[in-house]
Amino acid sequence: MDYGPAPESTKEANAWLEQHGRRFGLFIDNAWTEPGETFASFNPADGSELAQVTQGTSADVDRAVEAARRAQPGWVAMGGHGRAKILYALARLLQKHSRLFAVVETLDNGKTIRETRDADIPLAARHFYHHAGWAQLQSEEFADYRAVGVVGQIVPWNFPLLMLAWKVAPALAAGNTIVFKPAEFTSLTALLFAEICQQAGVPAGVVNVVTGDGSVGEAIVNHAGIDKLAFTGSTEVGRIIRKATAGSGKKLSLELGGKSPFIVFADADLDAAVEGLVDSIWFNQGQVCCAGSRLLVQESVYDRFIAKVKARMQNLRVGSPLDKSNDVGALVDPVQQQRIHGLVESARAEGCEVWQPACEIPATGSWFPPTLITGASTTATVAQAEIFGPVLVAMSFRTPGEAVQLANNTVYGLATCVWTESISLALDMAPQIKAGVVWINTANQFDAACGFGGYKESGFGREGGKEGMYEYLTPLAEDARPPAPNAADKGKVKPATDGNPFAIDRTAKLYIGGKQARPDSGYSRAIAGANGAFLADVGEGNRKDIRNAVEAAHKASGWAKTTAHNRAQVLYYIAENLAARADEFAARIAAQTGAKNAEREVQASIERLFYWAAWADKYDGLAHQPPMHGITVALNEPVGVIGVICPNENPLLGFISLVAPALALGNRVIAVPSQTAPLSATDLYQVLDTSDLPGGALNIVTGSADELARTLATHFDVDAIWRHDGSAEGCAEVERLSAESLKRTWTGGGRGRDWFSAQQACGRAVLQHASQVKNVWIPYGV
Ligand code: NAI
Repeated sequence: MDYGPAPESTKEANAWLEQHGRRFGLFIDNAWTEPGETFASFNPADGSELAQVTQGTSADVDRAVEAARRAQPGWVAMGGHGRAKILYALARLLQKHSRLFAVVETLDNGKTIRETRDADIPLAARHFYHHAGWAQLQSEEFADYRAVGVVGQIVPWNFPLLMLAWKVAPALAAGNTIVFKPAEFTSLTALLFAEICQQAGVPAGVVNVVTGDGSVGEAIVNHAGIDKLAFTGSTEVGRIIRKATAGSGKKLSLELGGKSPFIVFADADLDAAVEGLVDSIWFNQGQVCCAGSRLLVQESVYDRFIAKVKARMQNLRVGSPLDKSNDVGALVDPVQQQRIHGLVESARAEGCEVWQPACEIPATGSWFPPTLITGASTTATVAQAEIFGPVLVAMSFRTPGEAVQLANNTVYGLATCVWTESISLALDMAPQIKAGVVWINTANQFDAACGFGGYKESGFGREGGKEGMYEYLTPLAEDARPPAPNAADKGKVKPATDGNPFAIDRTAKLYIGGKQARPDSGYSRAIAGANGAFLADVGEGNRKDIRNAVEAAHKASGWAKTTAHNRAQVLYYIAENLAARADEFAARIAAQTGAKNAEREVQASIERLFYWAAWADKYDGLAHQPPMHGITVALNEPVGVIGVICPNENPLLGFISLVAPALALGNRVIAVPSQTAPLSATDLYQVLDTSDLPGGALNIVTGSADELARTLATHFDVDAIWRHDGSAEGCAEVERLSAESLKRTWTGGGRGRDWFSAQQACGRAVLQHASQVKNVWIPYGV
């Protein structure tokens, strides 16, 4: 028996559009502007025009930022409870008008009503409820933080209201005010949300919505009055935003593309896995950043599984998104259809097999049938590029090791599905796959309590969970940071004098892979003491030395796997060995910097090593209990290989304060010590040699901070770069250059830090830079 049509009514949605004369202005300072220059928003399912939407200008963005700025102190002053009540009201209003939101979203985007009704809108409401809670608890749970200020938020078209909720709810909870830009294809639910804000009593200027194309996005990104940017969209635009904000001091989170693997082991419940796959790649026509677009099946069940997938694809109902029994709706725009068509045809031309079920595609509108591609090589475009459509590329693997290799063979790292009945195998896979989310025997699960976001070129920052709240908060200690001390090199080096305590020549080499190594350049740089006299030569590291150090760091991957207890032991051991030579280190600091009380710096360094050793086995993750029969485990994982440009001042304490937390959490480090006073770091070589630190976990390259930072920032195998030498231009350059590989950055800008101050140099904010959260979803039961 076939399904009869079950169309959803569009009566209320059309009435709402008519109420606005199908022409929308912008929502700024709690008022609607007159529609300016407008563009059409279409229903992609049939090509009909739904409404005209205003193309915002940079003057509009100026006004929105000003309104948000004016409103921010008042919004903070309302207090956590005041904001919680408003977020709660927003959640209630979303629920009360849920069907209207669902229909408007379906009309504007082309996704099925089944999805907007059952997923997009309820999840959006849940986000506001959950974050009403964080607002209520803010003074208790985030007592050492303040709101960032005015935030710019730019979202794509694939989950228009849900992405709004993911961004707006935490920003408001934390006390920020917002300039929000929806995607040009799908502005309508954001405009409907603006109305809801009025009803909920959101004060004027707290939420502003400026519609328009990428030029409005650019105006928001470049606006000096914006303190933080949150962007979801293409990796290409993510890179542009990273470059544009480099050196601006704006906080940034990027949620970008993906090419997520869907791994099926031979012992999996294959029928359940097929249903998971449907959710993973045909949900929202595959226009999902975390879509399971690469199917990896264990060889012994490959043919059987592919046969099941084809049979299931044959039953997918493609058609009017408003029909409640349809599974696959329209693509957002003909542009996407052409893009997907081009990628599929190129796969065909390369000799891949392209399979599509026999299904009737509506004659008008933008559509693409569910598609399965087999026979693609691992390097084929369709196996590497984000297709962002209902197109699945299938491959086989033999062993779990090969599955990990294939899964990680991508520039992206957003999500992964692992299907197996063996809990041991599943939990063994989870940490090996470089992705922000791992779904075990399930797919595309989201919840406000659980963080979501990527590794590698899928971006950085998290949305949801406590980690998502930190994206909208600034540690109070940041406000107390002093201007950087003069970072300029000291004057000309005078010849050594008899009074020099280190008169015997000891030319320090570099420290790479646990061994001292001569610099590739064959040059040394002379280091002068505080009195201008020659102290010693250090190696002049270059690009090749950094490359060797990165290689050594990658070989030392065992450091990430060693137990936290062991890492703590090594840090304690370093402290112990440093203490044994405290006088010598103090003399060296004094000679380099002229510090009167250099012993204090050595003692503080020893204490700091103890501090980070203490944290090594205490920075636990969380077990979330989202509305699912199961748990979600949020693991704090090391970022990987971190390049650290150390401060010039406090050559020992500054070095230890950055290197030790990175090591404590299992990262491997390439440190560039103080350019002006590197000898406190090079003196550590012997301490490190006797402290059981495995070779390659910490590499030290002396030389020009600018040149070495440049090489680290552009190196594709370095996962993060920290720069704290007080050079504003240097920090900006590092941020700009890291855009290509989208590595995480932590820079001090042109400001310093009081390295003695626990408030400024310790705490969770540092641990957050040294880690990234992976959420592993583990449903259970049958
Ligand atoms: P996009 O990245 O161009 O657009 C996303 C948002 O950024 C929109 O609101 C857009 O107006 C804005 N924008 C565009 N240029 C900007 C700029 N220079 N500065 C600031 N904001 C700017 O994505 P688009 O063109 O809609 O889709 C192209 C491809 O990107 C898709 O086919 C897909 O592969 C990928 N994509 C990935 C998404 C994800 O969630 N990971 C979401 C949307 C697209």
